[in-house]
Amino acid sequence: MCILSFSQEHDAGAAIIEKGKILAAINEERLTRVKGQSGFPFKSIEEVLRLSGKTHKDVKHVVIPEISKMMDVVKNLTRYPLTAFPIGRGDNISFWDVFKHFIYSFYIILQTYPRVLINHFLDVRRLKKIFPQAKFHRVEHHVCHAASAFHTSGFKKALIITADYWGDFVCNMISIGRDKEIEVVSRSWYPNSIGHYYANLTTWFGYRANRHEGKILGLAAYGNPDSPAYEEVKHLLEVEELKLYCPYMIGKMWHQKMPFFKDSLMRRLLDDYPREDVAAVFQRRLEEVFVQLTKNAHEKYKIENLVLAGGTFSNVKLNQRLSEIPGIKRVYIFPNMTDGGISVGAALHYDITTNGSFGSSVRDVYFGPEFSNEEIEAALKKAGLKYEYVENIEATIADLLVENKVVARFHGKMEYGPRALGNRSILYAATDLTVNDWLNKRLGRTEFMPFAPVTLAEYADKCYENLNGNEFPAKFMTITFDCTDYMKEVSPATVHVDGTARPQLIDEETNPSYYKILKEYHKRTGIPSIVNTSFNMHEEPIVCTPDDAVRSFQQGHLEYLAIGKFLVSSAENNDGK
Ligand SMILES: [Fe+2]
Repeated sequence: MCILSFSQEHDAGAAIIEKGKILAAINEERLTRVKGQSGFPFKSIEEVLRLSGKTHKDVKHVVIPEISKMMDVVKNLTRYPLTAFPIGRGDNISFWDVFKHFIYSFYIILQTYPRVLINHFLDVRRLKKIFPQAKFHRVEHHVCHAASAFHTSGFKKALIITADYWGDFVCNMISIGRDKEIEVVSRSWYPNSIGHYYANLTTWFGYRANRHEGKILGLAAYGNPDSPAYEEVKHLLEVEELKLYCPYMIGKMWHQKMPFFKDSLMRRLLDDYPREDVAAVFQRRLEEVFVQLTKNAHEKYKIENLVLAGGTFSNVKLNQRLSEIPGIKRVYIFPNMTDGGISVGAALHYDITTNGSFGSSVRDVYFGPEFSNEEIEAALKKAGLKYEYVENIEATIADLLVENKVVARFHGKMEYGPRALGNRSILYAATDLTVNDWLNKRLGRTEFMPFAPVTLAEYADKCYENLNGNEFPAKFMTITFDCTDYMKEVSPATVHVDGTARPQLIDEETNPSYYKILKEYHKRTGIPSIVNTSFNMHEEPIVCTPDDAVRSFQQGHLEYLAIGKFLVSSAENNDGK
């Protein structure tokens, strides 16, 4: 019995599930070529049907990943002003902070609820047109996040923490997963929002919220987390038992585009302290409160497996801190942890709780489209590129990497989620420290974090400290580890200034062709890691089709494109340097 779900907030997409198995999943941005595409995912719905070989009639159930019923809206509206004014909570609060908080809170209500209500009715109308025979169900937003992580973790029992900007007006939820059930034990309501905290910070640094938070995280490693600025920031977030509180955070972090109050805490901090230090103290406070929250939950429920989902856990350094908590033995982060991955959780939750299906550990997230050599060759011909067919393309890529050439690789099924995991990746030797600046310029990117490494799984212990229990999330680049001296010596381009890296560990079973490239490279150099970064130009989604790959290869003036079994050299073509 096929179950389909979708998301339509800031990263729209769709997924289709059968008997607890993910048949296909994709995000709309890859199809429309608009980064973070929001709105109803018409293309993704058709694409997951095509990829899974199902028809509209095969879909018997459609799950909408939010509550959004009228009574819940009313309930939230009455609850919201109370959470906006946590009386007696927090200090260092001025009258202006409270006033700004009040104004902004109602601005959010007016901005959000009309859209929520309109979507509530539009979704059902659209879905009934597409799937006239299907039944429709709703699952709470954070339960979907929780299900995406727990039901793909392979754990029988786990402590589940989800956190984001908000969903169904919940910002943080703690639950317990046991076999097929998820029991919610705590919810923190908007505006107690860690997502808002980090998004506001991102806009104050001049970047785009919900997209560039990783830049702040990268910058934070250069700053001093013990800077005096910390004393002003620590009041923004508090933890009490299993609840997260952000007393008057919105008032104190007043959005820079709202000009009425010039005395913002953020404006003052950025005037008085280096940007690196401001980023560092915000990251420090984030880590402190989530470590405390997790410790409190762990002490209460004595569960040693921790699973995480929601946009907050795209913060790879935070995930490392949580994995280091004494008593937490294993951590798993759903690879598409933001709202872009919520459709998987929604469909799995319905399937497992209603149909008796079982969740299982995901081996990989290659859930997207793939293309035949004929289709690839047609795209190369259309672009007028010279190319050659190479039977052992993996060995040829390894040879090029040894020569310090940049190779864009397009192979097999596209990855699901924000990370390129080898099939839509740019590869490069990690031995040269200057590669980060050089490649960032080529791709039009501004990053403070170095490119991430992909490492042969059998050499993981040689390259990273304290991996025990966390090899699984390390398959998906969702967590950082401290690097060993050996790693710092042989792959300096992938080690951040704080000595960490966010690796992808690759084994033969997960991706044989990708593994073979690493193996061939290791044979030639003795080094088990190379650079892996996503194959896309700045502010574009990761490439999806052969046409996208050819276009990005040409725009980025990259040296080689290994696409299927074909090799394209820029030097052999007019657009080469
Ligand atoms: Fe969310």
